[in-house]
Amino acid sequence: MKILNTALHCRKEVEALKKKGKTVGLVPTMGSLHQGHLSLVEAAKKKCHTVFMTIFVNPTQFGPGEDFERYPRDLDRDAALAEKKGVDFLFCPEVGELYREGYSTYVEVEGITDVMCGRYRPGHFRGVATVVLKLFNIIPAHRAFFGEKDYQQLVVIKRMAADLDIDIEITGCPTVREEDGLALSSRNRYLDPRQRENAVEIYRALKKAGEAILGGEEDLKKISRQAIEILEKNPYIKKVDYFDIRDPGSLMELDRPGRGGQVLIAAAAWIGETRLIDNVVISKKK
Ligand code: PAJ
Repeated sequence: MKILNTALHCRKEVEALKKKGKTVGLVPTMGSLHQGHLSLVEAAKKKCHTVFMTIFVNPTQFGPGEDFERYPRDLDRDAALAEKKGVDFLFCPEVGELYREGYSTYVEVEGITDVMCGRYRPGHFRGVATVVLKLFNIIPAHRAFFGEKDYQQLVVIKRMAADLDIDIEITGCPTVREEDGLALSSRNRYLDPRQRENAVEIYRALKKAGEAILGGEEDLKKISRQAIEILEKNPYIKKVDYFDIRDPGSLMELDRPGRGGQVLIAAAAWIGETRLIDNVVISKKK
């Protein structure tokens, strides 16, 4: 595995690979790697000859008072895991490599970023879209791989790619979970054992809501309200930012489930000082 620190080196490598007729897959991450990240590498290896992973804790997607400073960083461990999984190139730039002095250009994806996490983390998706577009320009891969765990992020990136004529196929990959159902996340490391035990309640509430919809409950507002009530009764869950039932394509809120098609149920909740997100997508039979 080759470790690269500059945009120029990445571009040269991609250019050489493309000349040789190799397909390139891109897996952007912020490091602190877990099986969720590594499942994206697996997917990329299945579809592409060569896999680039990026590790960059992107300052522009963290708001003031969020966890940018304390976000876990361990490049040696990450590099070893990436290499073992078969990553070919690891791009891990310094902040100054991506945001030079005088940096002032940002990507704004409108509408779909006003809801869910966008509502509670203003500017977050602007930072995500900006850095992802930069990574797409630095590593013009054939395909890029993102997790459904960050469902809204995936929708935002697909929207940006379509709107800005980006010639990279965006591939969504299923959420990898612990045995009890908790979605893997770098932020799970912040949890103490009791918090960790209770964190799975978010997933249980999502599943229960899904079952209610599949069971014929039509009042989606009621399902959300009840889920929030139950979650907030848990002493380890400080606050539920949202528990939303939406159309998985447009992220528009649904009042009633349609007859067929898919429904997204997504939530964000605080376990102590740690904000966790999760979602499930259910398919209604026609
Ligand atoms: P990060 O949180 O490190 O996640 C990197 C990628 O791994 C994202 O596509 C995310 O959806 C995926 N991922 C995280 N947990 C997962 C899980 N349990 N199962 C499957 N996939 C999972 O998301 C980011 O970084 C950043 O916002 C980034 C896109 C890199 C831009 O800075």
